[in-house]
Order: sequence, then structure tokens, then C-alpha cells
Amino acid sequence: MSKVTVVGAGNVGATCANVLAHKDIVKEVVLLDIKGDLARGKALDSWQQASIDYYSTYLKGTDDYAETAGSDIVVVTAGIPRKPGMSRDDLIATNANIVNIVTSSIMKYSENPIIIIVSNPLDVMTYAAQSATGLSSDRVFGMAGILDTARYRAFLATALNVSPKDIQAVLMGGHGDTMVPLPRYTTVSGIPVMELIDQETLDAIVQRTKVGGGELVKLMGTSAWYAPGAAAAQMVEAIVKDENRIFPCCARLEGQYGMEDVFLGVPVKLGKNGIEQVIELQLNEDEMALLNTSAEHVRKVMAIYDNLQQKV
Ligand code: LAC
Repeated sequence: MSKVTVVGAGNVGATCANVLAHKDIVKEVVLLDIKGDLARGKALDSWQQASIDYYSTYLKGTDDYAETAGSDIVVVTAGIPRKPGMSRDDLIATNANIVNIVTSSIMKYSENPIIIIVSNPLDVMTYAAQSATGLSSDRVFGMAGILDTARYRAFLATALNVSPKDIQAVLMGGHGDTMVPLPRYTTVSGIPVMELIDQETLDAIVQRTKVGGGELVKLMGTSAWYAPGAAAAQMVEAIVKDENRIFPCCARLEGQYGMEDVFLGVPVKLGKNGIEQVIELQLNEDEMALLNTSAEHVRKVMAIYDNLQQKV
């Protein structure tokens, strides 16, 4: 039975820990935050929910990295969230520092963990975590695609008046406004979505998906947590249960899609070793052009990170 650490007891981290406990698939979840009492309180509250919702996963809150020793999987949600008017990229200086400290501290107590990054700007924070830990790229990856695809699926479910369960979709690219939803790879119980929806409605849904995180920041004054936390928990589940599920995740590309050394959302197979395989879709010219634009954007933010590191 696995041990999972969730770093950051804010809205996303606490939700992830709580959803994970409900799945009842790991022995222990350690919720770590520099605000130790916040982590201790949320973990205790979740543990007190166990007899009501019927799970055995023990939750422990702490601010001490020694408590994370021997973690199989670590979910990193630490960092500041967006405020209205900010892009995810505006968070880079603060969150790069936090992600570097968090991942280096984790490595002092766990030998070869799998690390799932949730902090923003997502693609570049995944790059930061891989650089800071030296772990292989199949063990450090980011959660964005499941969330962005879930938003797309929710909008489609509303427009079509069908269950979101029946909508299958994949979305690629960076976790930002350049992300690439793929209608050609979207089906409703196997029926191509284009047969069920008019182009104008579909285009509007694609556009709304791209700025889906921003829509929530405007509504709430901070970024979302239910779907982000659940998405990270779903990745943990796929790994713990060695499910070989196919999800869009942020991964380091090493030749796939003709790209090297860029962190980008692509479909991957997730199993006990983390990324078991990056799946290469047969994208058409238009889709590939959109993916390249998204990769260029991520590369620019990676370069900002590199410059920040030189100044340290
Ligand atoms: C969002 C944040 C978590 O998209 O990036 O809501």
C-alpha cells in the first residue's frame, strides 16, 4: 500500500488529499504545508470524515518534510494562485522558488518518488521540478490536461444535454490560453462530436475551454480547486493501481511530435512507473501548427525560468 504526500494544504492540495482518501487506495496521505496547523487541521478534518464516508486511508498534516519519508508519489500544489487579471505566467518568480525548495526537500527523504506537479505556470514548474530533482522524465510530470479536458467535456455535456461520462476527448499543448482542444479526437459514446454539434457552438466551446481557468478566477477571485484537486487524485489512482490509463499530462518531449526538451501536454499512458509511454497522435497540419505555437509559448516561459536561475 502506497504512501502519498501532497504538498500545499490550500484549496487544491486539500481537495486532492480528500478526494484521494475517498478512493481508499493508499495507506496514508501526508498533507504538508509551511502553515503546519492548516495542514494538521485539514488532515484531521478529512480523517474525521473517514467513518462517515467509509475509507481507511489515514491523513496526516505536517510542516516537517521528515514525515514525508518513503513517499511513493508526491503531488506538488504549493505556490501562489492567480488573482483576477493575472496570467499563470505572472506567477513564475514566486512559484519557481517554491517548487525548487519543495522538490529538493522531498528528495532528502524519498529516494525515487513519482512527482506530479500542479503549481503554475504548470509546464514550466514541471521543468523546474525535473531540473531540481534530477529524476527521470517518466517520474516527473504535470497535471493540466485532465483538468482542461474535463472543462471541455463539461461544456460539451451542457451543450448536448448528455452525461459528461459519455464524452471522451483529448486536448494537448501548454496549460494556458494556447492549449489545443482536439474536436477530431472528441466523441460522445463513440460518435464523433462533429456529427452532434454545429461548428459555431463547438468553436465557442473550444474558446471557452482555453480560458476556462480564467473564467473561474474572475468568478471567485482565486483559482479553481475541485476539478484540479480531483484531476491530480485521478493521476495518483492510475499510478497506484497500475491502470495504464491514457490521460493528457504535461511531459518532457524527447523527440515525440518532432520536439526536444520542451514540457508540453500530450497523451500519455500512466501506470506504476509513472509515464509508461507518450502516445503520438497523427495530427493534421492545422493541429500541429497549433501545437507548435503552444510549444513556442512554453519555451519562452522556460527561458524566463532559466534566466531566473542564473540570477540566483
Ligand atoms: C486552473 C489552474 C489550477 O486552470 O491552473 O484552474
